[in-house]
Amino acid sequence: MQNFDFILFGATGDLAMRKIFPSLYQAYYDGLLSLEGKIIATSRTKFGRKDFLKRLETQSKIHIKNYDEKKWEEFTHNIYYLSININEVKEFNLLNQQLSKNSKNIIIYFSISPEFFIQACENLTLVGLNDKRVKIVLEKPLGMDLKSCCEINEKISKFYKETQIYRIDHYLGKESVRNILTLRAFNPIFQALWNKKYIQCIEISVFETLGVENRGEFYDHTGALRDMLQNHILQILSLIAMKIPKNFDANSIRKAKLKILKSLKPLKIDTLNKQVIRAQYVKNEEFKSYLEEKNIKAKSQTETFVALKAELMNKTWQGVPFYLRTGKRMAESFAHIVISFKNKKNTANDINKLIISLQPHHRISFEMNIKKIESDTDFETKILNLNLNHNSTMQSYERLILDIIESNPASFNHKEELEAAWKWVDSILKNWKNKKSELFFYPAKSWGPKQAFELIEKDGCEWYNI
Ligand code: BG6
Repeated sequence: MQNFDFILFGATGDLAMRKIFPSLYQAYYDGLLSLEGKIIATSRTKFGRKDFLKRLETQSKIHIKNYDEKKWEEFTHNIYYLSININEVKEFNLLNQQLSKNSKNIIIYFSISPEFFIQACENLTLVGLNDKRVKIVLEKPLGMDLKSCCEINEKISKFYKETQIYRIDHYLGKESVRNILTLRAFNPIFQALWNKKYIQCIEISVFETLGVENRGEFYDHTGALRDMLQNHILQILSLIAMKIPKNFDANSIRKAKLKILKSLKPLKIDTLNKQVIRAQYVKNEEFKSYLEEKNIKAKSQTETFVALKAELMNKTWQGVPFYLRTGKRMAESFAHIVISFKNKKNTANDINKLIISLQPHHRISFEMNIKKIESDTDFETKILNLNLNHNSTMQSYERLILDIIESNPASFNHKEELEAAWKWVDSILKNWKNKKSELFFYPAKSWGPKQAFELIEKDGCEWYNI
């Protein structure tokens, strides 16, 4: 494992405490991290190293699976804290003083709001922290629409080369998501059937029982489409639909995904309302409504659920609907991909289905039809189950951080991927902004609004609800 220095902006934030520090610790615990370099935590808040470590202990330790006192002590031994005001270039000099001598692999992680990215990059450059030793990591969502995403990408490119930039989508660090390409590439049986001739429709669903928690302010101007669909779900879609590249290097994978994102059929104003359903949760006996959550604007129109029908304009997929949906405060938490194969009769209840469950269980199932015992005419559907749950504690952030240390960009987004995704999502956002689409409602802990069911059922398909 390579040595590295790790500078974290936003070190007192929620993501840092919940994911980044626990992942770094876990990698250390697993023996995958050399800690010869330093972890330099920064944020605006002024306090000393001791106080920061105390805070880390109380806020981060609870998210660690394999806590071990001795390991924790060793791990925190190399954590330092600096209070930095992003607007003050003088303060950035402190970083250089703090870095380990002859550091050749410097990771700068921005766990801060995108509006501060440019200022931080400019000041880092002014103190010499943009040369080839440096890699920067950007959290999602990158921008709020195509324009702001392009602006960020363009401005950052003045300071850092594309090869130095790692845009995180944590779904690409999940074991189950990383398995999609292997499943497709190394099973010729699927390759032969993976096209419009044999596939009737594809569903990708990501449901969460959680509400907006304490992220109301962020969520209220983001919404489900930007928070989950523009990135995680479109990334899964591109892994499912892309042509399998000859080589599995970062460049080939990213190019193949980009082709898919660019082939998303633009949504036309006249069909958009029929193809995109947005909704917000209202209270039930157990949970309050979205509007009653903390830091949500009165009468907010922000969607906590979105379901839509997407299509691809290429030879392989022309005419195959991709049904995508995501929501908060749903009846169950799960993420899955369902590939429904065509059959001659095309009735929903006897088609073969390949179900790739991404979470909470990592499982691949195949629904097939077999003869009913003692009947020669009737058949029944049985499920072939491949349980892939494993004991590995490696979480997606740990995986991705290790990839960055080793300079492996395959599981990070190229700027063009994000821009292509935003371009497509923009047409939906514009329609919503013009208040031309209706906001529907669904009770907390339900399966979503009835309009989402109608969307898919009118095409003769159905959502797969576990
Ligand atoms: C994040 C979203 O990107 O993904 C959150 O901002 C969401 O709103 C989270 O809860 C879901 O991630 P996971 O790994 O729990 O499915």
